[in-house]
Parts: sequence; structure tokens; C-alpha cells
Amino acid sequence: MKSRTPRPRFDRPAPERQVTTLWDYPSQNYGEGKQGDTAYVGATPSYIVWNLLQSYTKEKDLVVDPMCGSGTTLDVARDLSRRALGYDLNPTRPDIFRVDARKLPLETGKADFVFIDPPYSTHVDYSNDPRCIGKLDAATAAYYEAMALVIGEIDRVLKPGKFMALYVCDSFVKDKAFHPIGFELFGLLRQHFTPVDIVSVVRHNKTLEMGNYRRAADEGNFFLRGFNYLFIMRKEHAPPPPAPSRPAPGHRAAKKPNFRRGGKRGN
Ligand SMILES: C[S@@+](CC[C@H](N)C(=O)[O-])C[C@H]1O[C@@H](n2cnc3c(N)ncnc32)[C@H](O)[C@@H]1O
Repeated sequence: MKSRTPRPRFDRPAPERQVTTLWDYPSQNYGEGKQGDTAYVGATPSYIVWNLLQSYTKEKDLVVDPMCGSGTTLDVARDLSRRALGYDLNPTRPDIFRVDARKLPLETGKADFVFIDPPYSTHVDYSNDPRCIGKLDAATAAYYEAMALVIGEIDRVLKPGKFMALYVCDSFVKDKAFHPIGFELFGLLRQHFTPVDIVSVVRHNKTLEMGNYRRAADEGNFFLRGFNYLFIMRKEHAPPPPAPSRPAPGHRAAKKPNFRRGGKRGN
């Protein structure tokens, strides 16, 4: 019998800390193992959670995912020796609790980190549960009202001084409308948390390369979604200061004095 030399997994390099705000990795999973289930539509690429946990948690910290789908967050957290709790309306495995993310069964101030990848409007049919936020169109206030409740729960369960991250994509439906879900959800997050960073995550969506999508985008003169937002936020010990208010229309900012070298005032 011929012995087989194992082929190197060149498509899955070891996960590495991302060092800029543009994140990219060639595979849904890292390493030899599997995190979550790639067959679950909308599963989060696991290197995203890996990078977040490396930066914002330490061993034994409690990581919570209120909409954990196929369990990617749980697998990455355990891989890195963090404790993990996962909830979803559509549990795919026994270690995920069937819970509506608008009312988490967790005591206040228990989580060291929360990650969430919510539905982005109605693009995916996750379950028949009428409470699924994926049944709410981002064109309606109902989607944002539901997400405001989810974000309020994240704030409640997170320890002060700790971090959370929300991964989301804008929605574009041909012949209908563009919905800047990212900016809208960032506004909701801002009511509870202080922004730490905004990362743009490259989308490796196979459908982007499919002929009909590409042709539709060319012919319809629109863009296919190429990135997701990753909003990283911190819960302050006291409520966050209000976001800076926008100047009134027509308002012109006063010119700043221009101090030239030698102390001479210019202009
Ligand atoms: C984008 S998927 C999450 C994918 C997950 N991070 C993974 O890697 O598999 C969004 C999830 O939100 C869940 N969901 C929708 N509405 C919910 C709600 N009200 N409470 C809890 N989970 C909800 C869906 O069942 C779905 O699994």
C-alpha cells in the first residue's frame, strides 16, 4: 500500500493578529479544526472572534454571544481557554440556549466580552420563530426597535470597563433601496458605549463571483457588498458622554487662529 504524504493546508494559515483596521483572512475557519459550522448560512468567519478575544479578553473570562447561530464564538472562546455562553432563538447544538436576545437569562454585569453578529434585515431565513429579528425588514422601524432592545441587554450583562463588538453589513436590495444598517446600529450602540474602533472586514462571499450577480451589478449600476463593519465599543463605568452634536445647517465654524513659528499670529 502506498503511503500518503499529508497535503499542507495552505488555504488555512495559522490565525494572526490583524494589525490594521482592514481585516482579511482566506478561510471561514482557522487552523486544522472547525469553529462553528460553515454550512450555517450567515456563520461568522472565526478569525474575527479570535482577533477580538486576543485583544479584549484573557483566560477564564466569560464571553457571551446573544445570537450565536452555529456556535462560532463558543468554539473560539473555548479554543482560547475563555468561558463561553451562547444564546439563539434557533439553537443548532446542545450548548446553545434557546433565548430571545432581547431578554437574556444572565445576571447584570457578568460578561467580560460580548460578540454579536445579528441578522441584517430579511436576507436569510434563520427559523420559523416569529421572534426572529431576521424577519424584520431594515426598511422599517421595527428592526431598529428590536436591535435597540438587544443592545440594551448587552449593556446590562456586560461588566463596566469591558468591551463588546457588533459585526454587521449594510443592506442593498436591487430596485428597492439601500439601508445603511451599519451607521444606524452604530448610532444605537453609541447611546450605551464609547467607540473604541471601527474595522472593515473583507467579505469573501462566493456569490460575489457568480456570473449573474456580477452581471446584475454591472447592468444595474450598483455595488455588491464588499465589506462588513465591526464596531468595537467599551462600556464605561459611568454613562458615556453624549455624542458630539452636529452644527446647525448654515453654521460656519469660527476660523482657528494660525500660530506661525516665532509666535507671530497669521491671518
Ligand atoms: C448572522 S447569524 C449568527 C451567526 C453566528 N455568529 C455563527 O457564527 O454561526 C444571526 C443569528 O441570530 C439569530 N436570531 C435572530 N433573532 C434572534 C433573537 N431575537 N434572539 C436570539 N437570536 C436571534 C438567528 O437565529 C441567527 O442564528
